[in-house]
Amino acid sequence: MSRGPFLLLNEGRAIENLIEIKGVKHAYSTKAGPLPVLDGLEVAVPEGTFCAVVGPSGCGKSTLTRLVAGLMKPDEGEVWLHGERVRGPRKTVGMAFQNPVLLEWRTILENVILPLEIVAPTMSRAKRVERAMELLEMVGLKGFENKRPSELSGGMRQRASLCRSIVHKPEVLIMDEPFGALDAFTREDLWQTMRELRAAEPFTAVLITHDLRESVFLGDQVIVLSGRPARTQYVMNVDLPADRTLDVLYEKPVADMLSVLRQQIKIAQGRDEEVH
Ligand SMILES: Nc1ncnc2c1ncn2[C@@H]1O[C@H](COP(=O)(O)OP(=O)(O)O)[C@@H](O)[C@H]1O
Ligand SMILES: [Mg+2]
Repeated sequence: MSRGPFLLLNEGRAIENLIEIKGVKHAYSTKAGPLPVLDGLEVAVPEGTFCAVVGPSGCGKSTLTRLVAGLMKPDEGEVWLHGERVRGPRKTVGMAFQNPVLLEWRTILENVILPLEIVAPTMSRAKRVERAMELLEMVGLKGFENKRPSELSGGMRQRASLCRSIVHKPEVLIMDEPFGALDAFTREDLWQTMRELRAAEPFTAVLITHDLRESVFLGDQVIVLSGRPARTQYVMNVDLPADRTLDVLYEKPVADMLSVLRQQIKIAQGRDEEVH
């Protein structure tokens, strides 16, 4: 399924791929022998766009995030980020997980500032605070900056965690099921916040999710991975207005997209015989 150089035209401007994963294969070595996890991964994420990835549990989604972050090397194939082959961990990648992993002994503000201390050691304290506060305000956490993580709700902690993962303006934000542990209403609020953040800060994102509505609401494209060993089974371009609100989820175009994605997931799970 090689698509070669992939350019989307945006108001006459060609957008280059920020991330390219080509022909990636990988097997973990286990006591029981090699466990093939990825077998023909093809992903192209144009700069400034949002790529949602869905697929059956255990198919290799988290493995994909580790490859893009440079935390591991594939057995075969190539991973490219901004025109450079990924060969090791990169500071220009921001990551967010299901568990926000905030440091309990630091305030929310100090947690958000943390990546700047590592990536921008010469930046003044005032500038760091200014940058962190700008994001905290954007996600509705102004007034909570001096609280400890334990004093905040799960949704608020995840908001703080998102601020921390983009505070240093990473080239790419990788999220592995960041909203998975939240209740439905909190999750939808976070989807809105994510879109607002993207409108304000044009980062490129890869989001692993098991929520198809989330993938369509947030994604410019949705990639469906097959069951393990995962290959790129299906790519959907999500053609919805950039200023979409949650109402779009109840309209026909999205209902049609969700039905296609649901069918693809069933195929990926090897249960296509159930699809009529
Ligand atoms: N370091 C590892 N060593 C051996 N097996 C692993 C390792 N990491 C993940 N796996 C196995 O590889 C498969 C894919 O894992 P993962 O990428 O976490 O899947 P997903 O995120 O889609 O649920 C799973 O069966 C998992 O148990
Ligand atoms: Mg996973």
